[in-house]
Amino acid sequence: MNFEVKNTPILISEFSKVLIQWHHQHGRQNLPWQNNRDPYAVWVSEIMLQQTQVATVLERYPRFMKHFPSISILADAEIDEVLAEWSGLGYYSRARNLHACAKQVMGIYSGKFPNDPLLLAELKGIGRSTAGAIAAFAFKNRTPILDANVKRVLARIFGVEGFIQEKSVNEKLWELAQSLLPADNKVMPIYTQALMDFGATWCTSRKPVCLTTLKKCPYMDVCHARLSNRVLDLPARLKKIKSPEFECQMGLIRKGNFVLLKKRPDKAIWGGLWSLPESLWSPKMYEKNEEDVFMSINKLFDLVIPAEKVPKAWLKSSNGSVIKGPKIKHVFSHRRLWMQIWELHVIEPFNVSKMGLAWVSLRQLGKFGLPQPIKLLLEGLSLVRDDDLKN
Ligand code: ADE
Repeated sequence: MNFEVKNTPILISEFSKVLIQWHHQHGRQNLPWQNNRDPYAVWVSEIMLQQTQVATVLERYPRFMKHFPSISILADAEIDEVLAEWSGLGYYSRARNLHACAKQVMGIYSGKFPNDPLLLAELKGIGRSTAGAIAAFAFKNRTPILDANVKRVLARIFGVEGFIQEKSVNEKLWELAQSLLPADNKVMPIYTQALMDFGATWCTSRKPVCLTTLKKCPYMDVCHARLSNRVLDLPARLKKIKSPEFECQMGLIRKGNFVLLKKRPDKAIWGGLWSLPESLWSPKMYEKNEEDVFMSINKLFDLVIPAEKVPKAWLKSSNGSVIKGPKIKHVFSHRRLWMQIWELHVIEPFNVSKMGLAWVSLRQLGKFGLPQPIKLLLEGLSLVRDDDLKN
């Protein structure tokens, strides 16, 4: 395909044809969600793919669809069941929004997704780009997408200047994305998939094929970034500040094969998931070079279950002392957290009903939505023979 570099209108008019041709040879084919254009299936796959790698989604998507084969089944499920199925995928607000959106679609649209991207974007958890993807994949609607990969591709090929985080740059990219759509709406699914695949596999952020391999990018002779030797400089982005670090203490309070878990508030990080009772998070201190090695039972309860008055009986029910466990680091999108685990074995499992707490069997963890690092920690605990729980 021949372009005139200076003649942007030709580049614009040929862009989609070139991309579809590229997809034919190099794009991802036969992904499970590509063979099913049912709006429910498309929507679930797009939400799962938002912050999760394709390889992981390939494994988890069929399992999710088996568990929740229709939108009405998903809407009627308990949120805990949805969160448990989402366990390990991270960004749990996606699972909560998925559940809320299923209820919206049942309530407002009798279970049928609207095909208008503007209406789709009003639903929980569906942003403008995801609305475009669903409209294109499920309804062959001529709507653009503009996720981070697509922004990069367009900024490079068309030499879009300015910081990508700026609103005006974003608007310019949306306009450009709209102007690049193929005329024939029948090819919208393949075009949209091609755009995603090209950004994810060829025109990547740090190792684009034009700089790292012999592969011939179909836009190599017209790409503004390449021709001006600025491939890694486009798109321009404001420097990210390092995310703040926090630390907290967590109680691993056990009775045989049961562990005390606490349901997290919906609006918090890991909202709605079950986790170990924890202290408030405080900014991580670096000057403190002497780490605490001792924790009294009293202090542990005080730290991790502070909202409630801990009954005296609890303190007496402990067996021995508090053992210092591992310190686990977890990186979120906006912060980093260090979790110091303190392990305590109790003799009598005190009554925790109505406190948002529960004694959960280590054998039943699969039924609970747990943050990934806590899940890994608990799955690594060895089971003991005595696991009866009198409550
Ligand atoms: N990321 C978001 N949607 C995607 C899709 N349909 N295929 C591959 N990666 C994606």
